[in-house]
Amino acid sequence: MLKTDQDIAPVPPEGASADWTVPQAWDSYTAADHATWDKLFARQSTMLPGRVAPAFLEGMKLAGLDRPGIPDFAELSERLMKATGWRVLAVPGLVPEEVFFEHLANRRFVAGRFIRKPEQLDYLQEPDIFHDVFGHVPLLAHPAFADYMQAYGQGGLRAIEHGAIERLARLYWHTVEFGLIRDGAGMKLYGAGIVSSYGESIFALDDPSPNRIGFDLKRVMRTRYRIDDYQQNYFVIDSFDDLLRQTIETDFAPLYAEIAEQPDHEPGEIADGDKVITLGTQDYAREKAGR
Ligand SMILES: [Fe+2]
Repeated sequence: MLKTDQDIAPVPPEGASADWTVPQAWDSYTAADHATWDKLFARQSTMLPGRVAPAFLEGMKLAGLDRPGIPDFAELSERLMKATGWRVLAVPGLVPEEVFFEHLANRRFVAGRFIRKPEQLDYLQEPDIFHDVFGHVPLLAHPAFADYMQAYGQGGLRAIEHGAIERLARLYWHTVEFGLIRDGAGMKLYGAGIVSSYGESIFALDDPSPNRIGFDLKRVMRTRYRIDDYQQNYFVIDSFDDLLRQTIETDFAPLYAEIAEQPDHEPGEIADGDKVITLGTQDYAREKAGR
């Protein structure tokens, strides 16, 4: 997961390579670790059909995620390589932005190797292997989404030069992590932060609280997000092809300059020009805020 956290040490921790990767050490997972994966997997894979983008379910199968136990990254990579040329590599935790972008730009997805404890099934501060692999890997098997992730990494490296990482990180957040898609079959989930969370998989699609707004690149990069709770605004793309096209065809430098002059949008705000698909009540956020 990408986090704009400047507190991460600039050098890799001991035992990690210069690119911050570490061996997954698959053999070191315990039976309890595998059981945690299986439990999370069973819950999500039972609930998601009909709610998640069909491409995600196809990607799960293609990546071989439907077999029990924590996946072996070497095997995942072999399957992904054949489909879209992506690989999955282990890292010890969050990595600096430049390292993260560099990996994406070269079709390498870096994933945490640890798995949450059984008492943390529903809430976790740092992304673990279930979030990173179950949440992110299936769509890396989809050609347009795979290209989008690489384009994002390349854009990230350029954003560093423009001092615009925070803006670009919002694009990742509102698409890769918490995006919705509206295709012929209606509204569906695809963001990894949603599909790896039981609660948010229901909330994002069914709850009357959040706004669901048509995706707009500039709008999204001006929108702050919540890291501590369910999102108040979800942005809805028309297709992965369209998301890729917009990302590749847009010249981001002038866009960064333009939005630098404009105020941010708050998490639950409706802005002028929004294509509102569902106007939310924001009851959930209001109750949580104790108002
Ligand atoms: Fe993530």
